[in-house]
Amino acid sequence: MTVTTDNGVGADLRTPDGEATIHQVALSFEDGVTRFISCREDQTVADASYRQRINIPLDCRDGACGTCKSFCESGDFDGGVYIEDALSDDESAAGYALPCCMKPKSDLVLQIPATSDVAKTQASRFTGTIVELDRLSDSTMRLEIRIENRGELAFLPGQYVNIEIPGSDDGEGTPVSRSYSFANGSHEDRLVFLIKLSPGGAMSTYLTDRAARGEEIAFTGPHGSFFLREATRPVLLLAGGTGLAPILSMLRKLHADNSRRKVHLIYGVSTDTDLVALDEIEFFAEQLPGLTWDHCVSDPASSAVNKGYVMSLIEPAHLYDGDVAIYLCGPPPMVESVRKHVAQAGIAPTGFYYEKFALAARPEAGAETGTVQKTEALSDEAAPVATPEARPAPAPDADDPIIVASDARSIAGQQTLPAADLASWSGTRPVVAADDSLTRIAGQPLWHSESDDRGLDSDAGLLRPTASHPAGPARSIAGQEVFAPSSLEPLHEAVPAVATETPTVGDTVAGPAVVGSQGYQIGEEHPAIHESDALFEARAALELGALELTFGRLSTQQLAGYRLLADATVPYVDGDRFVDAAEYTETNAAFHDYLFAQTGNDHLLEAYKALGVKGRMSEVLRNATWCHPLCAQDHIDIVSAFEAGDHDAARALIT
Ligand code: FES
Repeated sequence: MTVTTDNGVGADLRTPDGEATIHQVALSFEDGVTRFISCREDQTVADASYRQRINIPLDCRDGACGTCKSFCESGDFDGGVYIEDALSDDESAAGYALPCCMKPKSDLVLQIPATSDVAKTQASRFTGTIVELDRLSDSTMRLEIRIENRGELAFLPGQYVNIEIPGSDDGEGTPVSRSYSFANGSHEDRLVFLIKLSPGGAMSTYLTDRAARGEEIAFTGPHGSFFLREATRPVLLLAGGTGLAPILSMLRKLHADNSRRKVHLIYGVSTDTDLVALDEIEFFAEQLPGLTWDHCVSDPASSAVNKGYVMSLIEPAHLYDGDVAIYLCGPPPMVESVRKHVAQAGIAPTGFYYEKFALAARPEAGAETGTVQKTEALSDEAAPVATPEARPAPAPDADDPIIVASDARSIAGQQTLPAADLASWSGTRPVVAADDSLTRIAGQPLWHSESDDRGLDSDAGLLRPTASHPAGPARSIAGQEVFAPSSLEPLHEAVPAVATETPTVGDTVAGPAVVGSQGYQIGEEHPAIHESDALFEARAALELGALELTFGRLSTQQLAGYRLLADATVPYVDGDRFVDAAEYTETNAAFHDYLFAQTGNDHLLEAYKALGVKGRMSEVLRNATWCHPLCAQDHIDIVSAFEAGDHDAARALIT
């Protein structure tokens, strides 16, 4: 039997107010997994279970259907009120009980008639076929996949999936996968991805050498909390390289909505070859009255009008004195440089949402990683190697220095340039000597830090291989393959992915910074000056996203759990008065958590938690007595809207 403890056996046996005794209930699932929950004596086991996000089977949740019937191996309980059809006297005498009605009088062990998988939610796996393979440029491939069960795949514009590379094997019988953002709209049947071709990259090699139309291909997802929030305020979209893919998905969503929202897009790449989808952007610029856009190329030899980085094209008018949401998909230096550029302009944008590479480490030379290994066809004569002494750190929008080594590498149109004595730089960052390699993505340099034994430079957010985290297989996001340590999971354990409290950076509320399983970060930040408003607005936006992913897709059991949690908030409100503000905060948080949990997208749930709304509510409501008279009723009405299939009503209530 596998035993996991979720809430800690031996926790306090009384609630903080001393009014109710708490018992530990072991939920023993059919697959041998046992999970523990804490359950108050005045609480049903089903209620406690759902509040702790374990979805035991439920339907009526009222002692009428018998769906939840479970065998109680040990412990005393109050069986509650139910009908004979749900649980006969004989069954009761034999030790069966109904978790939706039973309340513990002691610690309990319950046999739950379901597997632990059923009680959890997971990202789905989809199998489809390749319907299009288009070489958009020397460095970029467009992949289109069709799946038969498209209706079962709900995603938000900006999210990604992990695509399994057909015929690959990670050595343990599992296909190697890479992460790619959807470039299509979430309302469209087709599934489109932009993939930067990296010589020797596992996905790149597959696409260029073996892939063919009609071939089967699978992916899991959707993942990620980098998606376009529904709001009316202006938007600044910044895309680096194939980081354009999620931005295109957002534009398609705006187009589908006939949006008149003010949007400015800046698209930056390394070389002219990397520029793709310009006609597509132009089409949206013609169709969307609020959309303007520009692009730049960092290669000094480019024929583009704008040479340099995206920061050079950000104008004060694009920032609306801070009343703007910035969405940025690119490498860490690009994210950091934009962040600094905006801060130096004295602007704290209402929302700063980013998806960036967090990890980059060079694989051992010649190692069979199935990833980027071949030499980029760069001339040794192209430019001299820069040294820290010879080249001071340039401004962010300075010309991109060309640094070349004999075994230079290319990542999705980005150059990875090993050198013995390269200086790395980025905008206003201090110069950091790199002794192994340097990477560029979309014209933005990545470098390997020597500052942290975990391989993580907390400032730059970049990695170098270390003894504990050696270089490993390349990873990708938004169509760009990057290197990540082979021992990625331990690193994640060592570096908390999400702060439990709302952290602050200066006067900015740094929201979630989720380190994805493939080594990149997704995060969002909001200015502290509008902290409460920004947090609740951010929560509503995330919740609307969760609604889009779950609406019409929740099972009867899931809806029952949702209603259970809505009902749980009711006892703590009486008219326009809180009966118990602390309990309301707890039950309210459990209610909001639940919808995110049902998306199967951990990033969304973590993003929501990292906003720290519950903590903020606890502070604000600590001594509160007054409340909005509909605050609990709204929860019930939201569930009713889900049950009735009334999408507009659910949206209106959440908003
Ligand atoms: Fe119906 Fe418990 S009896 S869910």
